[in-house]
Amino acid sequence: AGRRAAGVPALPANAPLAEDTRLWLDGLLGGLFSRVQSAAAPSVLADDKRPTVTMLWASQTGNAEALAQRFAARLREEGIAVELSAMADFPASKLADTQTLALISSTFGDGDPPDNGEGFWHTLSRAETRLESLRFAVLALGDANYEQFCHHGKQLDQRLQELGATRLLDRVDCDTEFEERAQAWLKQFHQLLKPAQALSAGVVASPIETPGKSNPYASRLLNNLHLNQQSRHKETRMFSLDLADSGLCYEAGDALGVWPRNCPELVDEVLALTRLGADTSVSVDKLGEVGLRRALTEHFEIARPNRETLAFIAERSANPQLKQLLSCERKEELKDWLWGRQFADVLQAFPIECSAAELLGALKRLQPRLYSIASSAKAHPEEVHLTVAAVRYGNRKGVSSTFLADRVASGEVPVFVQTSKHFRVPGDGDVPMIMIGPGTGVAPFRGFLQERRARGDQGRNWLFFGEQHAASDFYYREELQGMQHDGLLTQLSLAFSRDQPQKIYVQDRIREQGAELWRWLQDGAQLYVCGDASQMAKDVDRVLREVAQEHGGLSAENAADYWRQMSEQKRYLRDVY
Ligand SMILES: Cc1cc2nc3c(=O)[nH]c(=O)nc-3n(C[C@H](O)[C@H](O)[C@H](O)COP(=O)(O)OP(=O)(O)OC[C@H]3O[C@@H](n4cnc5c(N)ncnc54)[C@H](O)[C@@H]3O)c2cc1C
Ligand SMILES: Cc1cc2nc3c(=O)[nH]c(=O)nc-3n(C[C@H](O)[C@H](O)[C@H](O)COP(=O)(O)O)c2cc1C
Repeated sequence: AGRRAAGVPALPANAPLAEDTRLWLDGLLGGLFSRVQSAAAPSVLADDKRPTVTMLWASQTGNAEALAQRFAARLREEGIAVELSAMADFPASKLADTQTLALISSTFGDGDPPDNGEGFWHTLSRAETRLESLRFAVLALGDANYEQFCHHGKQLDQRLQELGATRLLDRVDCDTEFEERAQAWLKQFHQLLKPAQALSAGVVASPIETPGKSNPYASRLLNNLHLNQQSRHKETRMFSLDLADSGLCYEAGDALGVWPRNCPELVDEVLALTRLGADTSVSVDKLGEVGLRRALTEHFEIARPNRETLAFIAERSANPQLKQLLSCERKEELKDWLWGRQFADVLQAFPIECSAAELLGALKRLQPRLYSIASSAKAHPEEVHLTVAAVRYGNRKGVSSTFLADRVASGEVPVFVQTSKHFRVPGDGDVPMIMIGPGTGVAPFRGFLQERRARGDQGRNWLFFGEQHAASDFYYREELQGMQHDGLLTQLSLAFSRDQPQKIYVQDRIREQGAELWRWLQDGAQLYVCGDASQMAKDVDRVLREVAQEHGGLSAENAADYWRQMSEQKRYLRDVY
């Protein structure tokens, strides 16, 4: 038999048994052996014989959070007591008294924890307490396009094992289409808790379901406003979409999910390169038989090539160069070569022959794109506004940003609301807000300011905004300056990087005004950052630590702790991408 946790046997994956039976037996063996091994080892069953689970989540954009909420509800329906909490609200020191732990976390940045998992990880990674009586299971969410795929889930899993905890089941890593793998993980987890009972299908959804990711609302574009028409380098647009009668509700700080469609010319190009017929009938999971053109337009990612797609092309191509580029040692070279190239460019360089089914088998399903909502529903009850940078490079373009910019016209835009419960204006209207949002990062703060005005909040508001040129890129100029004049916006700090010989960014303005910013923080201000994750958010984070050192008299280490605590207290909040 295969082995799971030390001393606990498991049936091999190829045992000639139905999956359910195998899992049930594994669960039984797990239970028996752990009890045989150590009389002191805790049972999953609490005193009242109801299994008790502590389910912790860490999530940046809401996927892990939503899964954890649903999974906790499912387990409770099965009579399992579940303590559900964000990692940020659960002191890692409590793990020593925890029996059964389920962790659901995404990965952010470059393999980092989401912000609300950062403090938990900080403590866990330094912990010395042994966790021998803890049993755990990890569900990791990620995106295989990132080099550090599911890295944070992997770290959590490994660290718990290092501390002596028992892995109840193998970690499951999920790519962007996570639903099925996540459900299978839950099923397996449940069977280990209650081996004799299969997980029920869950509560049947009511017939009138609020639109969500899997059943988006067909909205219409009301307005498509080019915000920086004079700019030679950038194209940023404000979109307003109709939500009247949609049943969709949002709060300032939430994101809107958009299910885009691929550009028809790109679909034609892919059809021509593969020499496949547009009308070829193909079978698509959950849709049934559809024509190839429709499948490529609405359901598959045909712009950004992923590793599996590249491997498929390399396998089929007569030219061995792509296969060589895919070797581990040439990772960087491959990255450089791919920069600016899309799937169609790869097909052009490495022509292949394949059937329609083989082509779709090598492609990932098209995923929705998220956009920070740039309005308050209190100010615009039947609309939602977005601030979107159109992605265009060479003769190529981003799928969703240009779907909105170029291809919607009077057509439908399938949308849903992705709740960001952590990213909200302060509940107390008197608390000061500091908002750092250069570029499209200004979006949620326009929503926050509209929200504060609608609520009649009296707290002070300070916005840091930056872009390339004041003349062309000062988005929402009149609206923001109007808010400044009527006192809603107490301070507006601007950084236009290319209006003077030396570059000036928002982080430079923060440094210049560090003393004042520190005073606001002492007055209880909440600080928010939105926008570019790869550079801006890191630079801002570094300068915020400098401010705490210079104006708060803290050592480098204490300054890092200060911001970690601010994050745990939900006073340092980020929506970065
Ligand atoms: C929580 C969250 C909130 C967000 N909020 C906003 C928002 O308010 N506004 C906003 O504009 N975006 C926002 N985004 C980003 C948004 O979701 C999309 O990622 C963005 O619009 C690009 O999507 P796309 O489909 O147009 O491009 P895709 O088809 O996804 O293509 C993007 C890819 O194109 C390639 N690429 C891009 N530029 C170049 C270049 N110059 N040269 C070569 N290759 C390049 C890169 O590989 C890049 O990954 C947010 C993201 C998240 C996660
Ligand atoms: C800015 C950004 C950085 C990301 N970095 C990683 C990464 O390093 N590794 C990974 O596997 N996934 C990465 N992801 C993908 C997320 O983990 C994935 O979208 C996940 O479903 C998000 O779950 P959440 O909504 O619970 O945060 C990143 C996503 C974004 C937007």
